[in-house]
Amino acid sequence: MKNKSKTVWGTRFNKPMSKIFEEVGSSIDIDKRLFEEDIFASIVHTQMLAKQKIISRTRGTKIINGLKRIRKEIKKNKFHFNKKYEDIHLNIEKRLFALIGEDAGYLHIARSRNDQVITDFKLWIKKASNEILKNLDILIKNFLKKSENNIQTIMPGFTHLKNAQPISFAHYLLAYVEMFKRDKKRFSSNISYIDECPLGVGALAGTSYKIDRNFTSKKLGFKKPTNNSIDSVSDRDFVLDFLSSASICAMHISRFAEELIIWNSDIFKLIKLDDKMLTGSSIMPQKKNPDPAELIRGRAGKNFGSLQAMLTTMKGLPLSYYKDMQEDKSLVFSSYDTLLESLIITNELIKNIRSNKERMLSLSNEGYTTATDFADYLVQNNGLSFRSAYKISAKLVNYAEKNKKKLNELSFNELKKIKNDLNKDVIKVFNVRNSVNLKTSYGGTSTKNIKKMISKLRKELK
Ligand code: ARG
Repeated sequence: MKNKSKTVWGTRFNKPMSKIFEEVGSSIDIDKRLFEEDIFASIVHTQMLAKQKIISRTRGTKIINGLKRIRKEIKKNKFHFNKKYEDIHLNIEKRLFALIGEDAGYLHIARSRNDQVITDFKLWIKKASNEILKNLDILIKNFLKKSENNIQTIMPGFTHLKNAQPISFAHYLLAYVEMFKRDKKRFSSNISYIDECPLGVGALAGTSYKIDRNFTSKKLGFKKPTNNSIDSVSDRDFVLDFLSSASICAMHISRFAEELIIWNSDIFKLIKLDDKMLTGSSIMPQKKNPDPAELIRGRAGKNFGSLQAMLTTMKGLPLSYYKDMQEDKSLVFSSYDTLLESLIITNELIKNIRSNKERMLSLSNEGYTTATDFADYLVQNNGLSFRSAYKISAKLVNYAEKNKKKLNELSFNELKKIKNDLNKDVIKVFNVRNSVNLKTSYGGTSTKNIKKMISKLRKELK
C-alpha cells in the first residue's frame, strides 16, 4: 500500500479493510455536514496547543492556514470526500497532510476522534436548536396574527370530538401558542445542558499534555469544560434531548395538522384552505386534498422513530465509546430536517386558512353546548347546588332533543316547563357569544381575556 492513500492506522494493519465494511463503516456522506464545526474546533485546539507551547507558533499557524484553506475548498465544492477515510475528521486530516505535509501530524496531539466528534456535534446541535427556535418564533407570530383576526369567531370546542362548549377560535389557536412556547423552553434548556465542552478529554482517560481546557471551552462558546473524561465520550444525552424535544414539537404540529384535516373535511367545513395548500386527485375531478397537513402528521413518525432508535442504541452500551454511536448523526440530521420542513409548512398552513365564521357559529349552537351554562345559571341565580342544577339542565336537553330544537330555539314558556320559577333573563344563557364572554376566569375564553393574552404574548416575543 502506498503511504499516501493509507488510513491513519494503516501501519498496524496487514490488509486493507474489506470493501463492504469500508462502505458500511464510513459515515462521511452523513457527517460531512459537520465540516464547519470540525474546522472551527481544530483551529481553536491548535491555538491552544501553541499557547501552551505544546507546538510551536509557526507550526500552529501553518496548520490553521491549511485548515482555513480546506474550509474554502469544501464551501466551494472543491473538496473530494473519500469513504476510505471514514468520516469528516479523518478526511480533513488527510487533506491537511496533502496541503502542508508532516506538520499536519501535530494537530491530533491531546485529542481523539471521540472528543472531537462530540465537540463538533454539540456545536452543530446548538446551531440547529437556535434555527428551530427562530422558526418557532415565526410560527408564534403567525398564530397570534390569526388569533387577532378571530377573537370574535365563535366555534364549538370539542371533547371526544363531540360538541362541548362554545369557544373563540382565537382561544383555540392560542392553545397552540402555549405548546410552542413550551417547545421553545425545551430547546433553550437543551442549549444550556449542552454547554459543557468535551474537547481535550481524549479517547476516554484525559491527557498528559498540559492543555488548557478552559481556553478551548471559552473560545468555542461553551460555559465550561466537562468534568469527567469517561462520561464525556460516553454521553449522548444531548442527542436524546434534541430528539425528544423535536418529537414533542413534531407531535404538537401534527395535532394541529390533524385539526385542519378534520375542520377542512366536507362534514365539518369549519375552515377553508387556500388552493396553495391543497392538491388534486388524478381521477376525481372535484377533489381538493389537504396533503401538506397530512405530510406534517405523517412525518412526525420519523421524528419519534429517531428518538426510539437512539434510546435503543444507548440502552445496552457499556462506557465509553462504541461505533454504535456513529449512527447518532444520521438520526439527528434527519429529525432536524424533517422538523424544520414541517415547521415551515405549518407556517404556510396557518397563513393560508380562512375560518368559515358562519359555519363555526351555527355548529356551536348544535349539540346543546350551552347546557353547562344553564346549570351554572341555576347555581348562580336560583341558589341550587351544581348537582341539582345539572339534573334540571339535563332534563332541558332531553326536552329539546325530543322536540328537535336547539337550546337557543326554546321559548321562555318551554323553559318554564322544566323549572317554573325562572327569570326572563335566563334566555341569554343560550346565546353562544354570551356563553363565551362569561368565561372570564384566568385562562378562559372570554374576549377580554383573549385580548389581554394576545398583547401579553406579543410583548413576550419582543
Ligand atoms: N465517526 C466516528 C463517530 O461518529 C468518530 C469517532 C470515532 N472513534 C472511534 N474510536 N472509532 O462516532
